[in-house]
Amino acid sequence: MDTMWLVLGTSIFFSTIILYTKRFRLRSSHRSTLPLGSLGWPLIGETIEFVSCAYSDRPESFMDKRRRIYGKVFKSHIFGSPTIVSTDAEVSKFVLQSDAKAFVPSYPKSLTELMGKSSILLINGSLQRRIHGLIGAFFKSPHLKAQITRDMQKYVQESMANWKDDHPIYIQDEAKNIAFQVLVKALISLDPGEEMELLKKQFQEFISGLMSLPINIPGTTLYGSLQAKKKMVSIVKNIIQARRQSVLISTVPKDVVDVLLNDSSEQLTDDLIADNMIDMMIPGEDSVPVLMTLAIKYLSDCPTALQQLTDENLKLKTLKAQLGQPLCWSDYLSLPFTQNVITETLRIGNIIIGVMRKAMKDVEIKGYLIPKGWCFFAYFRSVHLDENHYDWPYKFNPWRWQDKDTSTCNFTPFGGGQRLCPGLDLARLEASIFLHHFVTQFSWVAEEDTVVNFPTVRMKRRMPIWVKRRGNP
Ligand code: HEM
Repeated sequence: MDTMWLVLGTSIFFSTIILYTKRFRLRSSHRSTLPLGSLGWPLIGETIEFVSCAYSDRPESFMDKRRRIYGKVFKSHIFGSPTIVSTDAEVSKFVLQSDAKAFVPSYPKSLTELMGKSSILLINGSLQRRIHGLIGAFFKSPHLKAQITRDMQKYVQESMANWKDDHPIYIQDEAKNIAFQVLVKALISLDPGEEMELLKKQFQEFISGLMSLPINIPGTTLYGSLQAKKKMVSIVKNIIQARRQSVLISTVPKDVVDVLLNDSSEQLTDDLIADNMIDMMIPGEDSVPVLMTLAIKYLSDCPTALQQLTDENLKLKTLKAQLGQPLCWSDYLSLPFTQNVITETLRIGNIIIGVMRKAMKDVEIKGYLIPKGWCFFAYFRSVHLDENHYDWPYKFNPWRWQDKDTSTCNFTPFGGGQRLCPGLDLARLEASIFLHHFVTQFSWVAEEDTVVNFPTVRMKRRMPIWVKRRGNP
């Protein structure tokens, strides 16, 4: 927390000087179209109010207040930058679909230092599109889905075999452990063991620097994180070199490393591939376990939804047992109510509250000016909780999706446009498998716990539950 404030303080200080020069220049040239709003206090802008709302159970109250006064798109000054905040789904869609000539990703400095210049999260243009396309296609492939299903079933069963009736189970920790193993297997085919444990340890060290002060000297968190990344990169590079030397580079790729090694582009060097394997663990590592944990939280609070989900999954399990067939990935995704539970968890949980961009030139959308150099914050959470789009938006109601389309700009848990999350199928599949095994094998009582929304979404007490094993269906 202290580190967080330090980061904010430093970045706000340096950017404010630039801001005030730009602010007056822009006002004079584009007075009529810059969205309404306030840039807040000198130096700190509106960051304190934004952060204090973000820590509450209604983070969107910051946006709600301004939406009422200024409209769905307004200007503010947060995290050291003048920012146009959009809670208008159409405006956000337009920005996400724009190319790098208009908007590029914007992350805190500590994060960009850790990711490095060639990270998929930061690069733009044809290389980003190429890597994005290759990874997206691989994550959608039936071959990978079959492999993930086998791995996931194995890891889930191994994890659940250790659960005891008279001990609390921390769902968030269990889900994290399972999802990390699945992710590392999909990226570099590493199986659980000593090397996996080392990677897990280094990864924890690595991500501790994501929100740190951007100072890279021995003793700082950022320095420690970069050292951890170096060790992880060297593990991945060994794997890459072994594959290059082997005659066995498979034409049917078995993991993301294979996909990138098989590509003919000279830009995909070993260094770039190794760096990106680690960087891809950032969006992949935390979000899927949070999705699983939140689903269990909402189901614990909604017995009718839990009953319907359990019935649907038990029916499938019994049917497959009668046919003597194992469950395959399409079985899991074929369960309509389970999918609705996952969709509703994504809507109400808002695991990624929104995404940030920086304008590379003055852009006008729907009559609003987004000035060159300003940040743009597409805030999905307000759209997902807007009563004009969703009746009783704060109520967990998976049935609302029975006759509702998920492919609309009012539902964007995975972003959209050029950088639409390539891991979205993987995330849904993992959550489906986890829920299936969980509800068909256990009943449970959840202890009191609350959702924390900042800096990342998680459960305050790691979601402790007391489980009871079911008999065979
Ligand atoms: C519930 C789970 C997940 C959620 C809610 C989620 C959400 C998102 C969002 C909103 C973006 C867009 C970021 C932007 O526009 O700047 C994104 C991008 C990305 N996600 Fe996910 N994600 C999830 C799971 C995963 C998984 C399992 C992976 C697999 C490794 C993954 C890999 C990526 C990558 C590589 C990008 C960057 C794509 C690019 O910039 O071209 N995500 N994700």
